[in-house]
Amino acid sequence: MKKNLLTIGLIASASLANAQNLNQPPVMGWSSWNTFDVHISEELINGQADAMVAQGLKDAGYNYINIDDGYFGLRDDEGNLMTHPFRFPNGLRGIVDHVHSLGLKAGIYSDAGSNTCGSGQGTDDKWGMGVGLFGHEKMDCEFFFNDLGFDFIKVDFCGGQALLDRAKTDLDERQRYTSISNSLKATGKEVSFNVCRWAYPGTWIHDVADSWRTTGDIWCDWTSVRDILAENLYLSAYSSYGHYNDMDMLEVGRNMSEIEDRTHFGMWCIMNSPLLIGCDMRTIPAPALELMKNKELIALNQDRLGEQAYVAAKIGDCFVLVRDIEQAQSGIRAVAIYNPSDDAAHVILPLETIDLAGKTAIRDLFDHKDLKAITNGNLVCDVPAHGTMIYRLEAEKRLERKVYEAETAFISDYQELENPYARFSGFYEYKPFASSGILAVNLGRTEENDLCWKRIYSKEGGEYTAIIYLSSKEDRNFTVEVNGKKAARLTGNSSAWDRIVPVETKVILKPGLNEIRLYNAGERMPNIDKLEIIKL
Ligand code: GAL
Repeated sequence: MKKNLLTIGLIASASLANAQNLNQPPVMGWSSWNTFDVHISEELINGQADAMVAQGLKDAGYNYINIDDGYFGLRDDEGNLMTHPFRFPNGLRGIVDHVHSLGLKAGIYSDAGSNTCGSGQGTDDKWGMGVGLFGHEKMDCEFFFNDLGFDFIKVDFCGGQALLDRAKTDLDERQRYTSISNSLKATGKEVSFNVCRWAYPGTWIHDVADSWRTTGDIWCDWTSVRDILAENLYLSAYSSYGHYNDMDMLEVGRNMSEIEDRTHFGMWCIMNSPLLIGCDMRTIPAPALELMKNKELIALNQDRLGEQAYVAAKIGDCFVLVRDIEQAQSGIRAVAIYNPSDDAAHVILPLETIDLAGKTAIRDLFDHKDLKAITNGNLVCDVPAHGTMIYRLEAEKRLERKVYEAETAFISDYQELENPYARFSGFYEYKPFASSGILAVNLGRTEENDLCWKRIYSKEGGEYTAIIYLSSKEDRNFTVEVNGKKAARLTGNSSAWDRIVPVETKVILKPGLNEIRLYNAGERMPNIDKLEIIKL
């Protein structure tokens, strides 16, 4: 069989950059999947690239054109990957060249197993068999990146999971994605690596990829956006500059309401998700185009500090999320007030809750409007059902943060692939009686199944009272460690699982950032609601 994908010479690359640590802001671009499924072609992809430029989206910062599933066309006798004979009869090189000629970057898609997702779904049953990276990793990586010049890859896991794989293969994701990461590095090219395992895979992923999907597939409906947000609100500790929780491609401009589109886009921005447009860029409704070109929200997503906004409070049904922007620990912060409920909400947010005080300038980032400065200490707003307000605040004073919710802390052994009870790993659970609605549970028994706040800030350092709010129906012990040193051994017992009690100890913090870790390497820990630190 003859190759129908032409490999035209090697693209010279002197770059020896580490392929998986590009240390870049979240990827911005477009992906074919949400609107076009497997029904893609050279003409369509090139047309989308042209539209990205024509619609002003390139100028707004979008620059990746990503081909998702649907381009595969089996392998030839030597194992070379071929493209679909009708959709991509000319191979992919012409597309990459066209995309590059527009000053954009090109992305491709594959699977960690042998068979791709397409091989399990109707129309593409035949074409996706045997085309995944498993067994062909080195040659495919050289092909995609050295021969064709792609700049991004999304790697799915349909072929790695017996449940979905036609050949019923069960592969180890850590081993597979680490190996793929090494093969990417071996190409010597700068490639942004996105892992698509439909759940947060485990903390090992931070050494392997630039971004990773944390949920199942998005679809164009409010409940999908709402549920994806609910699964990411507690993942802020697992994102840092260059390493992002990917909440999936955007459904903006398809058929949700304008309010829902705003929430979807705004929350993806403040929560540091990659921004991959999922609609047909040739025909974007005007409000959606304007929203996705919103410079101030994009600047928030791409902010150099790279923090994912964390949950600071819950007021009624609304979650308050906040992050530093522009300058760490300053009076400048971005805040979102997100209303997932079906009723409008009137919110009064004491600025103290988000560590600000004094006269505070407030700017609405959706509408590019400066509002009347806050002088009475309360941010007051009306949030429609399914709506979100996002503001840039600039306050006279930055206060030291006192409340550290458990859902903003890092569990060293956190993972969402295996049943956490069977594997005994901690997780975050929505509980109405918890202070911001979420508890950290199932902690302890191993050293790594801990709970760690890695960024506790003290301006001057010194002695603090640390109050740990916990629930446990029986006596459960844990150690408090501050900056790697044992500070106290405490026992928690609230006499009921749905009752929270405080337990306190003294700790010494150093000036700047500190780490407070709770653990019990041998036995179960109490459930943790939050930590409060009060300067003595
Ligand atoms: C899914 C993936 C989607 C899309 C699809 C293609 O597994 O989550 O984003 O890539 O496969 O078949």
